[in-house]
Amino acid sequence: MIREKITDAIKRASGLEKVNLECPENEAFGDYSSNVALQGKNPKKDAERIIEKLKKDGKLSGIIERVEIAGSGFINFWLKKDVLIDGLKQIDMAKSDFGKSDEGKGKTVIIDYSSPNIAKPFGIGHLRSTIIGQALYNLYKSLGYEVVGDNHLGDWGTQFGKLICMIETEKPEELSIENLEKLYVEFHKKAEDNPELEEKARECFKKLEAGDPETKAIWQKCVDISLKEFAKVYDLLGVKTDFAFGESYYESEMRSMVGDSGIRRHLITGEEGAMVIDLSQYGIKTPLMFLKKDGATTYATRDLATIKFRTRKWDPDIIIYEVGVEQNLHFRQVFAAARLLKLVKPEVLLVHTAHGLYLAPEGQKFSTRKGNTVKLEDVLNEAEARAEKLALKSGEAKNKDEIDKLRKSVGIGAVKYFDLMHATGSNVVFDWDKMMNLEGNSGPYLQYTAARANSVIAKAKGKDQKFEAINNPNEEELSILRSLIKFPEIIKDSADRYAPNLLCNYLYSLAQKFNGFYGKHKIIDSENEEFRLALAFGVMQVLKNGLKILGIETPERM
Ligand code: ARG
Repeated sequence: MIREKITDAIKRASGLEKVNLECPENEAFGDYSSNVALQGKNPKKDAERIIEKLKKDGKLSGIIERVEIAGSGFINFWLKKDVLIDGLKQIDMAKSDFGKSDEGKGKTVIIDYSSPNIAKPFGIGHLRSTIIGQALYNLYKSLGYEVVGDNHLGDWGTQFGKLICMIETEKPEELSIENLEKLYVEFHKKAEDNPELEEKARECFKKLEAGDPETKAIWQKCVDISLKEFAKVYDLLGVKTDFAFGESYYESEMRSMVGDSGIRRHLITGEEGAMVIDLSQYGIKTPLMFLKKDGATTYATRDLATIKFRTRKWDPDIIIYEVGVEQNLHFRQVFAAARLLKLVKPEVLLVHTAHGLYLAPEGQKFSTRKGNTVKLEDVLNEAEARAEKLALKSGEAKNKDEIDKLRKSVGIGAVKYFDLMHATGSNVVFDWDKMMNLEGNSGPYLQYTAARANSVIAKAKGKDQKFEAINNPNEEELSILRSLIKFPEIIKDSADRYAPNLLCNYLYSLAQKFNGFYGKHKIIDSENEEFRLALAFGVMQVLKNGLKILGIETPERM
C-alpha cells in the first residue's frame, strides 16, 4: 500500500520508530500528511531536514509529485497523477476484489456477535450487534484473516429456571415466543408477593444443570421455538454466522474448570458463600461471580469457559465481542479473569466494542413498557414498505419483480447503513426520514449513486473505457481519483479500529464527489468521454465493494 511506503520512507528519514501519517479530510493539505516533525523543538527545521533526506533516499520519487511544509511543521504529500490514474487501472483489474489484501494472512479473529436470548423475541437491541458484527466479519475477511463468526446465544442460566418453573406450574397449552416472554414477566410479578418462587426457580435451574431429562425437554422446546423465530430475522437481514454454540454448549467445559485446581486456587468465598474471583489487581473493584451460593454457574463463568474452548479450537489472535456498552463491567471482569487464569496467551487481543443504544426519536430508550421490547421484525417490515415507496418515486419505471427486489435490498440496506454510519460507541436515534433520505448520508443514497454510475456505463455500451487521461483530468476528476485509490487503506483502518463508520463516511464522501461531478459535467459525448466512463466505472465498483462489506446489496438500477 502507498501509505506504508510513505511511512517507511519517513521512518528512515527521521530515524523515528513511530510515524504518524494521516489522510487529511481537506485536500488542500495533500493526499497524506505527517506530524513527525512536530515532536522536536524546531519543527520547521526538522521538517526541512526530513524532506531533504527523503529526496536523497529517492524511494518516493516514483509516487510523490510534491512535498510541502505546512502550518507549524506538518509535512504534506501529493501523489503523482500517474499513480492516481493507475488506481483506476487496479480497480478495473481487480473488480470485486479491489480493496482486498493479505494483511491478516495467517492470523485468526473470532467475532462474537448477534447473540440474542432464547425465550425472548429478537429485539432491536440485538440488531446493532448483528449488523456491526457482520460488517466487522466482512472487513477482516477482506484483509485476509481467518474469521470465525460465533453467535453466542443466551440459552442457559437461572432465567431458564424461572421459565421452566412457570411452565411446570401454569402448564400453558401452547408454547410460542410471545407466551414464553409473558411467562417470564409473570414470574417476576408473582415473585414479588411470593419470594419462595425464586428458590423454586433456582432449584429448577439446578435440575437443568444436573441433566434432568424432563426439565431438559422443556428447555429444548424453548430453544427450538426461539431458533425458528431468529431464523426469520436472519433471513430478512441476510446474515449467517458460522457457528452458534450458545452458552449451554459450555456445560462440560465449565464443570472441568470448576474442578481444576489451577483455577480453584483463585477462587475465594464471597458474599453468602458464593465463589468469586478477586480482580482488584486489575483495578476492578467488583469481583467476578464464578459460582453462585448454590453452586450454579453464571454468565461470566460461561464466558470464561468459552474463551478456553475458543483458544483450544481456533488459537485466535483477536477475539471481538460485539456487545452493547451496558456490559462494560462484565467484559472488563471476564477479560481480566481470563488473563489471571491464563486462559489466553498474553498477546491475544480481547476487544469489547461496546456499542451504544438505539433510542426512540424522543431520545428515550427504544424499548417500551416492562417486558415488551420493540420487535425487530416489525421494524424491518416497515423499512421494506418505506423502501418500496422510495423505489417507485425514483428513476425509471420498474416491473413488479424488480420492485419486490428493491423493496428488500433498499429497505434492509437502509436499516443497516443507518446503524453502521454511527460511531459504534454512540447511541443511535431512530429516524425513518434520515434513514430513507435519497439526498443525504443514507444507504439508499449510496445505492442510488452506484445505480446512477451504472446506468451511464450501460448507456455508453460498446464505448471504450480508457484509463489514461487523454486530456488532463480536471480538479474534480482528480479529487475522485484521490478517493478511489484510498479504499484499501480505509478498509484497514475500519478493521483496525473496529469502526465500520469510517467506511461509511468514506463511501458517502465518494458518492458526493461523484454526484457533484456528474451534476456539472457530461460524461457521454464529452471531450474526455473514455476517461470519464472509466471513472464512473471505478466509482460504481468501489461503492459496490464497500457496500458489500457493510452487508448491503447494490441494485443495478433504482
Ligand atoms: N446474550 C447476551 C445478551 O443478550 C449477549 C452475549 C454476548 N456475548 C458474550 N460472549 N457474552 O445480553
